[in-house]
Amino acid sequence: MLTKMRKYYHFAFTILMIMGLLASCSQDEKKYRIGVSQCSDDIWRDKQNSELQIGAYFHDNVELRFAAAYDSDERQIQQIDSLVGTGIDLLIVAPNQVSTISPAIDRAYDKGIPVIVFERKTNTKKYTAYMGADNYEMGHLMGEYVATRLNERGRIIEVMGLKGSSPAIERHNGFREAIAQHPGIQVVATLQGDWTEPTAYNMVKQWLDKNKDAGKIDLVFGMNDRTAMGARKAFEEAGGILPLFCGIDGLPGENGGIRLVQDSLLDASYIYPTHGDQLLQLAVDILEGKPYEKETKLMSALVTQDNARVLLMESEEIMRQSSNLEQLHEKASQYLDQLGNQRTLIFVALAAILLLLALLAGIYMYYLQRARIQDERTKMEREQLDFYTQVSHELRTPLSLIQGPLDQLLRTNDFRGASDEARELFSIVRRNTHHLTGIINKMLDAQMGTPIQEMTSAQVDAITVSQPIAAPAEVPDQDEDAPTVLIVDDNADIRTYLRSILQGQYRLLEAEDGQRGLELAREQVPDLIVSDVMMPVMNGLEFCQQVKKDGISSHIPVILLTARALEKHQIEGYESGADAYITKPFSPELLLARIDNLLQSRHQLKDLWGMKPATETTAAPSEATATAPTPTEDAFISSFKKIVEERLSNSNLSVEDLAANMGLSRVQLYRKVKALTGSTPIDLLRKARLAQAQKLLQESTLSVSEVAYQVGFASPSYFTKCYKDEFGIVPGEARKPN
Ligand code: FRU
Repeated sequence: MLTKMRKYYHFAFTILMIMGLLASCSQDEKKYRIGVSQCSDDIWRDKQNSELQIGAYFHDNVELRFAAAYDSDERQIQQIDSLVGTGIDLLIVAPNQVSTISPAIDRAYDKGIPVIVFERKTNTKKYTAYMGADNYEMGHLMGEYVATRLNERGRIIEVMGLKGSSPAIERHNGFREAIAQHPGIQVVATLQGDWTEPTAYNMVKQWLDKNKDAGKIDLVFGMNDRTAMGARKAFEEAGGILPLFCGIDGLPGENGGIRLVQDSLLDASYIYPTHGDQLLQLAVDILEGKPYEKETKLMSALVTQDNARVLLMESEEIMRQSSNLEQLHEKASQYLDQLGNQRTLIFVALAAILLLLALLAGIYMYYLQRARIQDERTKMEREQLDFYTQVSHELRTPLSLIQGPLDQLLRTNDFRGASDEARELFSIVRRNTHHLTGIINKMLDAQMGTPIQEMTSAQVDAITVSQPIAAPAEVPDQDEDAPTVLIVDDNADIRTYLRSILQGQYRLLEAEDGQRGLELAREQVPDLIVSDVMMPVMNGLEFCQQVKKDGISSHIPVILLTARALEKHQIEGYESGADAYITKPFSPELLLARIDNLLQSRHQLKDLWGMKPATETTAAPSEATATAPTPTEDAFISSFKKIVEERLSNSNLSVEDLAANMGLSRVQLYRKVKALTGSTPIDLLRKARLAQAQKLLQESTLSVSEVAYQVGFASPSYFTKCYKDEFGIVPGEARKPN
């Protein structure tokens, strides 16, 4: 049972686990993890990162992992390796310098991770795609602008980006090639910067300190806006006429290049495109196996005093919308979170309901199992009870046969002549027989809890063996007029004993089992039946039922005389239709009293034709104590009345004719009619004739003789005699006065 329950709960737990898994699975489909390795951390990188993030919002399944190397090769190499280690699906990298980062990029690529190189170049061929603006062209256009701005004449300083980084190299090459076309423009100094404002400031400051007499400088080209502003700071500190400052990046926002140009802090800048969203789309296309461009060139534009205002407005509008988009996304993700929580809640609720159902089913199964065990126990107890009942029967029967006859002997006159010693001895036997009965009763009660197996088979044999002896159907030398009692018992001694009690008062019939008893009950229609319960062939309960079911015998009172002393056995007995239940060992007086009482209380329908009977036949009970007739008996009497009334004009009508019409033998009809009415069929036929005659005399003009013949009397004088006997007057006196 316990293992079953355990299995059951294991099953319920598994269901819960599956539900949990379903809940979590449904929440995350396949995610793309994209690593972004930035060489620096500044406002340009910030802008690009947030564009990448906005791009990712359009793809539910993209997760971005950012890293910034703060212009350090070593740090960037380390960061790339660790991003790869976290299991990214694609790497976006802006390498700090052309050659230094390549080995880390190669390692990622060799692991099968697609690599997008962005904005800065590398000397490795192991990359999946490249996206960026043309830095050479940018430098070249800036050189052209400077020449034009200075009207082909002027002295300039160039402050470079980080040494070894591709934009620094390309912008320098483009710038210098353009300047070379303009001989009036002289590059006074090329200073090495590293893209940061403080370095540019320091480099320019040092140069100015060293070259105090270098003469007027007309323009400083910083390779990005921060560099140009660093140079400006140094010049401002040095005092004197400030040159023009040009940079690159042209970012929107507070400290961005566009505003610096508009505020005339810078003379010009060049928009260096970030395009994070476009970069993210390229990454997703690669991951999803869609077609993509290996090399993407981003377009760019110069920012000057002429267009700075418009560009600023536009870019600020874009920034505003980006911020709206961010807020929208924030809201959307809040809703999504709520939705997710609700979904989890639903799954948990479902799981709880399932668990509850499983629990209920478990409890139901448990009770089912318990009921089964209880049934088996009840069955065993019943078998045990049957066994002990059998044992009880076997013990009580011989006890009855000792105790009863002994009691009887002690009561008889003959015995009074016995010696005192003999009487004393018999008293001892009697006392001890009663004592033994008590002990057996107690022992059987106590034994109810003892398993049958504990008794040896020899013990069982010893107490269950009994040989039935065939009974003679009718006991000879009996008083024919006495009421008939049928004794049904398989034990010959019991029959003998019962006979000794009943004979003299009753005419006796005997049967050794229910089957034979039933035959006798139908043939002889006795006035009462005393039957054992436990018998071969047909037991007493079945026998009693059959007796009560059969139209011929249904009226006969049945006393069950049995060793089955338990209350439930008595109930069974009464349910089978028994009129009385007496347990063994029994008192003969009780049995006699019960028989007498049952015979007395038979309900007899005496006044079948609405006439007072002339004489009482047997001692009849008062109406109050009589048992009401059953529907079977009512039906029998009605059919008898009908048959009699239809045929009474026939003066030759005999009891045999009536019996034959009712499908019975003469004896059967006689005894059944006698038992139910107290009169014989012949008496009843005569009464029916007289009742009809009385009616005809009162209602017709027929003469007395005609009436006599009509109601089946062969002789009018005999009719007159019978009429006078019945009604106390002669027929002529019955006529109504005209
Ligand atoms: C940002 C930045 C920009 C510059 C670019 C060159 O990190 O320094 O200012 O234009 O990188 O790669």
